[in-house]
Amino acid sequence: MSDYQILQGDCIEKLNESRTYFMCGIQLTFLDPPFNQGKEYRYFNDTQPKETYWNWLKEVLSKVYEVTVDGGAIYFMQREKNAEQVIRILRETGWIFQNLIIWKKKTSAVPNGFRFSKQHQIIVFSTKGRKPRVFNKLRIDLPIPAEYKYKRVNGVYLTDVWDDIRELTSGYFAGNEPIRDINGSRVHKQQSPVALLMRIILSSTLPGDTVLDPFAGTGTTLVVAHQLLRNSIGIEIDPDYVKIIEERLKYPRPSDNISQYYNYYRYTENLKEVWHAENLAIIEQRRLF
Ligand SMILES: C[S@@+](CC[C@H](N)C(=O)[O-])C[C@H]1O[C@@H](n2cnc3c(N)ncnc32)[C@H](O)[C@@H]1O
Repeated sequence: MSDYQILQGDCIEKLNESRTYFMCGIQLTFLDPPFNQGKEYRYFNDTQPKETYWNWLKEVLSKVYEVTVDGGAIYFMQREKNAEQVIRILRETGWIFQNLIIWKKKTSAVPNGFRFSKQHQIIVFSTKGRKPRVFNKLRIDLPIPAEYKYKRVNGVYLTDVWDDIRELTSGYFAGNEPIRDINGSRVHKQQSPVALLMRIILSSTLPGDTVLDPFAGTGTTLVVAHQLLRNSIGIEIDPDYVKIIEERLKYPRPSDNISQYYNYYRYTENLKEVWHAENLAIIEQRRLF
């Protein structure tokens, strides 16, 4: 069984105060902070001077570094235009760069009058120390491009371009996965897809490890970690979102069930071990796209 903790409050305060939760060390952190792009948050000013914003995130990174075990990983998601700042503050807080992952959106692109439209977000994967303590080389059953002559017999290894995970921010295309209120509106505009967290957690942890999300939002990280038998700690400042996380974990929704994607990863050599899949209930398998 895995354990989860939901802490309501400011992540820096919680990382300072709640030492007992972090005593055993964190193996993986997913960092998806507000992007300082003028979005409406009830407990966060998303229009701050740039320097204030980046210094604040630098402090978060330092605190996370302190509680992370040697070789532990961080995946820091941001807007593509902030790649330079993200890589800089990771380096300045001691993290060692591993990959700049491009998460290419499937349905949404932001047009621009005088440069190319934007269609991806970045995720910087870094570690405490030069070598990750865990890195599971996942294989996926990516569809074969029309111009390929031969079928693949055992899938392909994942690269640093992820173009097979659908974002949840595109209205109708987002399907059932976004959590909605009684009027059908999404309760959190930045909810991450379970398929994204599943990939990150499978790549950089083993069953029994502990995953931290300092900006937990709707709790996607905890929901996925729990299914994969990883322990998790989520920190979220907004009490309304904390309630959503609690409900989401208590009453599992079919659209959050990650076993629908098991087949897509079936060519991974050690999948049974990293997924802890002996008792996996076989449900209808879905492609990621
Ligand atoms: C981009 S969202 C994360 C969404 C999340 N990945 C999900 O799947 O739902 C950022 C979250 O950080 C929260 N937040 C903002 N400032 C915070 C702080 N100082 N400490 C903890 N959480 C904070 C916001 O309320 C928001 O829910």
